[in-house]
Amino acid sequence: MAKSSKTSRTQDKPANVVPAVDAAILEAADRLRDGALVAFPTETVYGLGGDATDDRAVAAIFEAKGRPSFNPLIVHLPLLEKAEAVAAFDDRARSVAAKFWPGPLTLVLPRAPDCPVSLLASAGLETIAVRVPGHPVAHALLNAADRPIAAPSANRSGAVSPTRAEHVADDLGDAVAMILDGGACPVGIESTVLDLSGETPTLLRPGAVTAEAIEAEIGSLKTEDGAEGVRAPGQLESHYAPKTPLRLGCANPRPGEALLAFGPDLPSGFATILNLSEAGDLTEAAANLFAHLHALDAAGASGIATMAVPEDGLGRAINDRLRRAAAHDREI
Ligand code: TXA
Ligand code: MG
Repeated sequence: MAKSSKTSRTQDKPANVVPAVDAAILEAADRLRDGALVAFPTETVYGLGGDATDDRAVAAIFEAKGRPSFNPLIVHLPLLEKAEAVAAFDDRARSVAAKFWPGPLTLVLPRAPDCPVSLLASAGLETIAVRVPGHPVAHALLNAADRPIAAPSANRSGAVSPTRAEHVADDLGDAVAMILDGGACPVGIESTVLDLSGETPTLLRPGAVTAEAIEAEIGSLKTEDGAEGVRAPGQLESHYAPKTPLRLGCANPRPGEALLAFGPDLPSGFATILNLSEAGDLTEAAANLFAHLHALDAAGASGIATMAVPEDGLGRAINDRLRRAAAHDREI
């Protein structure tokens, strides 16, 4: 973990950031039941949670994020049994859930017949995205709240996802009632989104669970590349974008440019360098990705250049996020 990803915020922590001790988790659960928004750590990134059964809380999530309303939210539950009350699982979905939950995998399934979740959370689709996270704070919060919790990543729409409580505070400020501080998210990249609502399992977003691991369980996956319309509406081309322009590649350093590096062999000519993983380890790189993007964005560089990351396993999800961060057209 790079030293520079520590921030200077410890002294002036905003009042809504609280350590995720048991009493704070119970208070956060009460706030959720009252319709307020609470940010909480998951193993992937921090989520901006609201009661998924409460239209007003769900609307408040869209408002706080500045998210286009056609982009549906992931609904979080503490257990598979609870997920079965909101989504229709078949045997295939149950086997994938049994294998990967709790964990960084989101399943898109038909809404259950009596699904209590706000239609706004599914943005009018007949499907719903569900996930049982593995982080102990998320698990305790979901148990205590005792209702489905809608939670997109706790950043403004189109911005870099938060992997620390201070990222959330910097980006969303007091739009959120409470930010449970559980430290850095161990995985650091969003969940894989797998659509099992149709005949062919389709990967809508590469993420922390690799396509290879899912294929070992249920056979080959179709990969959605946005070609036939946006079925994972969050997969808008420009996404996860720092404010500082980012380019793929590190040839010909430009004046004042910072480098997001990977591996032991570094090019020369960059004043500021943060390395995703000196050892070239993709798991470490995923955990550092968003924190390093936040730190480089705050470093005052003229631009951010990136080194290539191998396109396999978690490297696919990392490259997917970097490509989107580099996309020119920033409309969201
Ligand atoms: O790791 C994660 O998944 C984090 C943590 C907080 O759980 N959440 C997250 O949520 O990344 P969000 O809202 O930033 O991304 C959700 C993705 C979007 O790309 C969205 O379009 C897609 O899931 N999605 C949600 N519901 C869907 C549905 N019914 N059909 C297709 N895609 C859906
Ligand atoms: Mg997001």
